[in-house]
Amino acid sequence: MEKYRELAFLPDALLPWYDKNRRNLPWRQDTDPYHIWVSEIMLQQTRVEAVKGYYARFLEKLPTVSALAECDDDSLHKLWEGLGYYSRVRNLKKAAQQIMDKHIGVFPDTYEQVLALPGIGAYTAGAICSIAFNQPTPAVDGNVLRVITRITDDDTPIDLPAYKNTVQQKLKEIYPDRAGDFTQALMELGATVCGPNRQPDCENCPCKAFCLGFARETAAHLPVRLPKRQRRIEEKTVFLLSCDGRLALEARGDKGLLAGLWQFPNVPGKLDTPAVLKQVEAFGLKPKEILLQVERKHIFTHIEWHMRGVYVEVQSCGGGFNWMSEYEIRELAALPTAFRLFLPQEQL
Ligand code: ADE
Repeated sequence: MEKYRELAFLPDALLPWYDKNRRNLPWRQDTDPYHIWVSEIMLQQTRVEAVKGYYARFLEKLPTVSALAECDDDSLHKLWEGLGYYSRVRNLKKAAQQIMDKHIGVFPDTYEQVLALPGIGAYTAGAICSIAFNQPTPAVDGNVLRVITRITDDDTPIDLPAYKNTVQQKLKEIYPDRAGDFTQALMELGATVCGPNRQPDCENCPCKAFCLGFARETAAHLPVRLPKRQRRIEEKTVFLLSCDGRLALEARGDKGLLAGLWQFPNVPGKLDTPAVLKQVEAFGLKPKEILLQVERKHIFTHIEWHMRGVYVEVQSCGGGFNWMSEYEIRELAALPTAFRLFLPQEQL
């Protein structure tokens, strides 16, 4: 029996359901490829609710590909601050510059050309070409893989790249004329009725009649993943050095994690009080008083930062740091969430 036979029923089941149940999301107001691109990049790794505000602000400030291509890096990082995974926004700008140089400022409309842009993989190229240009190019993300493994009752681990390719190919074969709507309908089902981290709502699913996972009661256990690799844990001591109502910041280097952003001075390892005082002096500063110590954790994809934040008042604003008021830190500097955790109002 053909393993993917049930997929043939998807378009007729999903499109009417989508017409009735689609969420009214800001990036569903039009099909401008620039808008679709920005939204899909933001939605990788970030929840819909969190993206909404960023999406509106980003397009208000940078309404065209050319505005993005010309935006200075600090303003760009500021627009992205809090979304994380900053390489996404650096690639957005690089790709915008390529569109200006190689495509005379017009967003390319073939899958191969879109896929060739920096930061755009098979998923994003598929989403842009189907949603903006109505081409039969599937966009296979975690939501879609959940739907497909359940409908076909397939326990192949979804992390295997070959599996994703197969699903992309099988979906391409059944794409209907309403390509953009079908792409979004699949995502929508995978984000809501057939959503993650809970029992699927099979009673309200338009695919109930042909879903093998429902019929065989396996849906809740799908998809299967390969065992997770352990994240590396890095311990740090983060210094909140204050003087005249200002805090010390420094620029992170231009390589590696969070490159090009700001940070509070920090050193590897969790220091005890004498070591903290010694380190403050090594920064070229005179400690007056240790005000507070807190513990915070921030989780990246492959690394966890376990941080000890020490608030130290110092005698003068020196040490080669940038001393910024809380207003400047909040409004002007792109400070990654890992460090933002130490700002006063975010401590509760
Ligand atoms: N997740 C990824 N892309 C999406 C989209 N276009 N709409 C809703 N959720 C999404």
